[in-house]
Amino acid sequence: MSKKNKFRSSEWYNSKTHRRDTFVHRGWMRNQGHPNHLFDGRPVIGICNTWSELTPCNGHFREIAESVKKGVFEAGGFPLEFPVFSASESNLRPTAMLFRNLASMDVEEAIRGNPIDGVVLLMGCDKTTPSLLMGAGSVDLPTIGISGGPMLNGHHRGETIGSGTGVWKLDADLNAGIISEDDFIDAEISMSRSKGNCMTMGTASTMGSMVEALGISLPGNAAIPAVDARRYSLSYMSGKRIVEMVKENLTFSKIVTKKSFENAIKVNGAIGGSTNAVIHLAAVAGRLEIDLNLNDWERCGKNIPTIVNLQPSGKYLMEDFYYAGGVPYVIKQLLERKLLNENEMTVNGKTILENNKDAKCWNTDVIKDFNEPLISDGGIKILKGNIAPNGAIIKPSAASEHLMKHKGKAVVFESVEELHDKIDDPNLDVDENSILVLKNCGPKGYPGMAEVGNMRLPQKVLKKGIRDMIRVSDARMSGTAFGTVILHTSPEAAVKGPLAAVQSGDMIEVDVYKGIMNLLVDQKIIDERLKNYNPILPEIKGGYQKMYVDHVMQADKGADLDFLVGKRGAEVKRHSH
Ligand code: FES
Repeated sequence: MSKKNKFRSSEWYNSKTHRRDTFVHRGWMRNQGHPNHLFDGRPVIGICNTWSELTPCNGHFREIAESVKKGVFEAGGFPLEFPVFSASESNLRPTAMLFRNLASMDVEEAIRGNPIDGVVLLMGCDKTTPSLLMGAGSVDLPTIGISGGPMLNGHHRGETIGSGTGVWKLDADLNAGIISEDDFIDAEISMSRSKGNCMTMGTASTMGSMVEALGISLPGNAAIPAVDARRYSLSYMSGKRIVEMVKENLTFSKIVTKKSFENAIKVNGAIGGSTNAVIHLAAVAGRLEIDLNLNDWERCGKNIPTIVNLQPSGKYLMEDFYYAGGVPYVIKQLLERKLLNENEMTVNGKTILENNKDAKCWNTDVIKDFNEPLISDGGIKILKGNIAPNGAIIKPSAASEHLMKHKGKAVVFESVEELHDKIDDPNLDVDENSILVLKNCGPKGYPGMAEVGNMRLPQKVLKKGIRDMIRVSDARMSGTAFGTVILHTSPEAAVKGPLAAVQSGDMIEVDVYKGIMNLLVDQKIIDERLKNYNPILPEIKGGYQKMYVDHVMQADKGADLDFLVGKRGAEVKRHSH
């Protein structure tokens, strides 16, 4: 092999100048039975695996890794699978988001520190996608993503039920006395009846779609169900392709540019994607040294109709979306209207236009036509005003039309504990016109910015048959949730952002059409309240949580740790044995 074509892994496995090191690097690897010829300078492909039995959405990832390995071998590469921190949305406390940045550090250092020439990222459950993209972005090797795919549609007592979205509905029905405890428990396995991640257009499926829109996966990645043979075929082909990418030196940052993020924002609008995409894409962009801010969401997301009729905004689930044509057909419709940067490169060496121009639709009720969309102005809306000088967000497609322009009396909860204690208090001064306000649930306040923004409605309101009210917080919400929920208010209350000044009884004005949210209280009073405000801060006993609260940035900056922003590359100092 000529020096020009020498891959990074050769520094470990083919050095003629440091023979003792080479012996150690190769020799210890060979205890796994790898024959000599696999160390001949061929591309070494890392398979970065978030498999864990505690992350049920990623529980099938070792099978996916096996398919990737077959493809890598076929293309003449040497695949090596390695585990990284797996942040489970359904199990991890206090919130998986607290550990997204920790996981990204693990990913970054594992890729950089090992003899890897290219990397395949196996991602699925919500935070596993951004954490892997963030870590891999900071290293910037040739990278290809594979999502684990959604679960099959849930079916329960004659009804189709979707992950997360179904839980919120069942919970509301249980609280309103419409269903029994037994009905509620019986729905569990009916909802989660196969391997895979949440099959609504929640955060996992949104991020899978973002991976596809960014061009960092093969086309069709997002929607193939986890148990469908085509998921394993795509994994095989991804393994094959990454070997070529290493030979072409087609690195992460050559694929994902500012223009790819603009495409992703538009695709997010068209699919009715999760609000969490805003925070995760900002964090990934930060790692690639690309400035992506809320103004970009406003600029690119404007006038993009939501055409994908999936829960929580619509009716269907990911399995239906795949059979209807999936993300490729959504991209095709955006391309036809000249809404995308069509020459953006993707991992297969083709542009987004080349990949998707011939996509077809097989069910126009699932993927609607642009001229008859589900919601004419979908996407994520940015709200600004004296409560949120750095912005807050809302997903209008999951909200109630009649609340888009509304003035109401604030009912304030200083913490999530206070919310749980008081929300069902019969003496709480609240009705359907009130605006529920929750503080101290932002990045530093919770910490980790929990998905508690879609506050449960008071029982006395639920019993009237009301199912939505305006809710405002510095928290996030699950991508599977719905309602007129204003999130990510920045700066957060815990750093004395103006949200901290809101008191019960104050009037708040929200106009989603105009992008405003204001506290109708004199500015002098607001300033005075902020001066005297004592945020409820969490007790931090040290460890990672201490580092997190000391360094986490606000929601509008992606809630990454300040010292993790940027590309640090793949170079690493040689350690002599
Ligand atoms: Fe894992 Fe929803 S809990 S994707």
